[in-house]
This record gives sequence, structure tokens and C-alpha cells, in this order.
Amino acid sequence: MKIIRTENYEEMSLKAGLLLTEKIRSNPSITLGMATGSTPKGIYQYLIKDHQDNRTTYKQVKSINLDEYIGIAPSNPNSYHYFMQKNLFEHLDIHEANTYLPNGAASNLEAECERYEKLIEDIGGVDLQILGIGQNGHIGFNEPGTSFDSRTHIINLEEDTRKANSRFFNSIDEVPKQAITMGIATILKSKEIFLLASGEAKADALARLIKDGISEDFPASALKLHQNVTIVADADALKYI
Ligand code: PGA
Repeated sequence: MKIIRTENYEEMSLKAGLLLTEKIRSNPSITLGMATGSTPKGIYQYLIKDHQDNRTTYKQVKSINLDEYIGIAPSNPNSYHYFMQKNLFEHLDIHEANTYLPNGAASNLEAECERYEKLIEDIGGVDLQILGIGQNGHIGFNEPGTSFDSRTHIINLEEDTRKANSRFFNSIDEVPKQAITMGIATILKSKEIFLLASGEAKADALARLIKDGISEDFPASALKLHQNVTIVADADALKYI
């Protein structure tokens, strides 16, 4: 795993954003794997500004998200559909039909997982996957103990994950208890992966990822099985490295 250390969140967003726009310009029909949460927001702002200033086009780009909460509609402001619309898609020239997320409001969730996994295959797989990391080492919503063989599946969210994400909701009671997430095997099929981390809250997780061995108890450690992973993280997140 290659590590790019930055001073702070702004520089992390800038460096990762720059790398990403280079990839998009050299492959205008790239398929990007997208993440939500606080970490990638700065990169999305970078992409929007670059689109406005430098006219990088997304007309042929496809985007496919890692995960979505179960039980909240796409129109709900806490859904990842809504997050992606507001934080990225509506500011770019990407075609809505080329943006994919799992449907957490599907009536048959098992069938939805199968549909999503097949969709990823049908569009030719992910060229570049953006990942954050949970304090417990989750990638996507793959919580500790998830099989490295997992494909898109339903996951029960850990209480710590619900607590961490409750900052976006009125109360923890509103945070869904389940999500649909690409599996670890799905993520590992991406041709290239950028893992982003910022802030002291991620320092233990990054130390464990970089220094410790591979274990299903720590989902991010699966990335050590992949040949093309770049960690872009700031000094606070890398303080034990
Ligand atoms: P965050 O979430 O970017 O909001 O910290 C990352 C994650 O839980 O994967």
C-alpha cells in the first residue's frame, strides 16, 4: 500500500482530488466507486470546482456507490442517494442514468443485493474505488467479522457505527439499524483503490491497518490483499505511523 501523508484535511482533499481528476481526464469513461460520509466531501468539492474551472467532463463517467441505509427512501435527506445528489452529482454534467446506488427501500432486499452485484459486473467493474475507514476498521458498511468472500449484502450496523453516524440525524433512534453494502470481495475487485482518512479519530484504525496483519476482525486489512491501494491521509490520522 502506498501512503501519501498530508498536513491536514484540506491538503488531503486537494491531493486526492488532483489524482482523481487526472484519472478522469485520462479515461473519460471511467467507472468511479463512490463513498459518503465526512471524509470524501472535500474531494467532491474539489471535483466540482475543477469541473467549473477546467471543464473536466463527466458525460461518459459512471459512478457506483458503496452502500445505502435500509429503510429510508432516496428522497430522505439522510439517504446516501440524497448525499450524492447534493454533494456531487447535481453540480456535474454526469448523467443521472450513470449514477448507481443500492436501493435501501426495495421490497425484496436480497434480490436488490443480487441485482446490485450483477450491475457492477455488467458495467465492467469499478476502475477506481474511493473508500473511507470506520474507527472499527469498516470499509463500506462491512463491519468487523464480515467474510472477505462477501458480495453485496445486508449488514447489521454496529452500535458504534450508528453512534458515529448519529451526528447527521436528530437522534440515534433515527439511525437505521441495517444497510446494503458492497462486500469485501466486491471492493477487492476494483482495479484501483484510494483510501482516505483524516483526523485523530482515525489514528488507531490506520495504525492497525498499516502495522497489523490480515484478519476478518478488521475489515480494512483485506486491502492488503489488493495490489493497487493508495492511502491518502493527514498527519493526525497518521500520528502513530
Ligand atoms: P466518515 O465515515 O468519512 O464520516 O468518517 C467513514 C466511514 O465510516 O467509512
